[in-house]
Amino acid sequence: MHTKLLAILLLAIGLMGCKQNKILQSPDGQILTTIQLINGKLSYQVMKGEELVIQTSSLGFKLKEHGDLVDGFTLLDRSRAEMNESWTAVWGPRKKMVNHYNEARLALKHEPTNILMNVVFRAFNDGVAFRYEFPEQEGLNEFIIMDELSEFAMVGNPTTWWIMADFDSYEKLYNETPLSKAEWVNTPVTMRTNSGLHISLHEAALTNYSGMTLKQIGKGKKNTYVSHLVPWADGAKVKTKAGMHTPWRTITIADNAAALVESDMIINLNEPCKIEDTSWIEPMKYMGIWWGMHIGTETWTEGKRHGATTENTMRYIDFAADNNVQGLVVEGWNAGWDKWGAKDAFDHVTPAADYDLKKVAAYAKEKGVELIMHHETGGDAVGYEALMDSAYALCEHLGIKALKTGYAGGIYPRGEHHHGQYMVEHYQKVVTTAAQYGIMINAHEPIKATGKRRTWPNMMTREGVRGMEWNGWSDGNPPSHTVTIPFTRMLGGPVDYTPGTFDILLKNFEDERVPWNCDDISQTRTHTTLAKQLALFVILYSPMQMASDLVDNYINHPAFAFIANANIDYDETRVLNAEVGQYITTARRTGNNWLVGSATNEKARDISIMLDFLDKDKTYEATIYADKEGCDWLNNPEQYTITKQTVKHGDKITMRLAAGGGQALSITAK
Ligand code: NOJ
Ligand code: CA
Repeated sequence: MHTKLLAILLLAIGLMGCKQNKILQSPDGQILTTIQLINGKLSYQVMKGEELVIQTSSLGFKLKEHGDLVDGFTLLDRSRAEMNESWTAVWGPRKKMVNHYNEARLALKHEPTNILMNVVFRAFNDGVAFRYEFPEQEGLNEFIIMDELSEFAMVGNPTTWWIMADFDSYEKLYNETPLSKAEWVNTPVTMRTNSGLHISLHEAALTNYSGMTLKQIGKGKKNTYVSHLVPWADGAKVKTKAGMHTPWRTITIADNAAALVESDMIINLNEPCKIEDTSWIEPMKYMGIWWGMHIGTETWTEGKRHGATTENTMRYIDFAADNNVQGLVVEGWNAGWDKWGAKDAFDHVTPAADYDLKKVAAYAKEKGVELIMHHETGGDAVGYEALMDSAYALCEHLGIKALKTGYAGGIYPRGEHHHGQYMVEHYQKVVTTAAQYGIMINAHEPIKATGKRRTWPNMMTREGVRGMEWNGWSDGNPPSHTVTIPFTRMLGGPVDYTPGTFDILLKNFEDERVPWNCDDISQTRTHTTLAKQLALFVILYSPMQMASDLVDNYINHPAFAFIANANIDYDETRVLNAEVGQYITTARRTGNNWLVGSATNEKARDISIMLDFLDKDKTYEATIYADKEGCDWLNNPEQYTITKQTVKHGDKITMRLAAGGGQALSITAK
């Protein structure tokens, strides 16, 4: 049937017995969702073209005082809507955004309890999302959700990339297994079907609710997930009241891995920007007094090896100013590191004795470098909330407009989880309060990214990944890890992975390293080539992008020119080729110039790209940072070449990526 002929929303077939179906099509007609009410039970199913993506999957809740909302729904009303809007993002990776979807809303009554509940589905060309609403109503005010029962019944046993569910950490290596082995996962969880379709399950606009993990149900049903929300300490999942809606449950569907990465559905499901004047929000490259602590050459605590001294900070400021790096984070600047882990350990207003905060802030200002404040809480959200206003006022007073937060430790109040509702609300409070003080946030040990940067563009970036730090004190991240993150973790949003290690084998200051977070540091290293580190600077998008190595490893290093010259305030992004966990090539444009990063897993490969994204009327100079012949992640990983070449639209470039290697191109219009 011609898609245009099929009305965007059909009340289909209808009223045979107790079965009511509603069919919702994506704007391009390719994705078809059927929302079903059969004998009082609500379910849905999704097709892309001829392929069944989600089999009949039921929807519902278990409430504390009202019991199960599963059987006994009747349809009160239905409506449809269409949205086709353009909006401009404050920052990238793409600024011109299009939000195009069809929406179906079913107003339902749960007859046994008289509770009114709506379910809303949105169909985009790149996926489907749904959420529940509990409108204000008589007879329902505050209520407690004990379980959300949203099912995702997949088809067959697709290849799946997943991290295990953990209520407190996303810092894990991804598994690649058949779906049947992925029993309980955090989202985003990504799958590839036999036909090559790429599907990712996640959530959007996670607010006033707890984070969702996905758990397989029952024996013999190894491909059906049901939502499992992160609990409060008392076992409740969500404490809420009527007049609420849940986050969106998202099913991103793409024909290939590159299209999956390019999807904007999750950010589009978030509300428009709530910050009126966004002129102060700016992407930046940054460095840090940071890596030294992780590899053990410096300490956060005061003493002989304290990294955050006035003098050391001024040295970093000088380098940043001379090398076009806009920001500098200084960890260990404040009192409390000797008590890390205890309640009320950290003091976010009192500097360490050997750190002259005022002097450093004034020097940074003079040199045009943004000092990034650091607030490690150790997980003590209660203590942090008490100090928040005075700590942010101090930032405002010193002209500091960026802040890295951290929650490395068990949450206070004890029993609450990083990914539970208490913390979802805490993280939101940080973002909202920071916006009032003109502060941009980079959150570590955060709640997952769900596209809220559209609403709160001062929520720049976050960790929520097994990042670079793990290479400093553990067996580290294998080469495949960084080419899996773009298809999993990053589907939620930017990632503060912190690439940029140049001293790949951690040999330059070997003698000064003291283990602090593992027994044996002799095997620690970064598992890539140097050129791949530059490629990751482009691929692992963050509007606050860190060049994470020690300044001493950058001084006079020719490859630092790539980072120094990079303008990461991207207007546009294209993924040129990709396979999950294997390789990815990403091109990002700022004005007339492009940066391209290409990276591979343990396998060496030649990758050809067509420069058909360049402007036809211009010529460009490409500076190419490549793995040197004879170099790979195991042998001579620090060897690289820098070559220059004139290029134009339509040219083909063949890149040789070493095993565990990569290549970075800076393409500048002449
Ligand atoms: C963990 C963060 O991810 C890391 O970046 C930071 O250095 C430490 N916590 C200390 O705050
Ligand atoms: Ca961390």
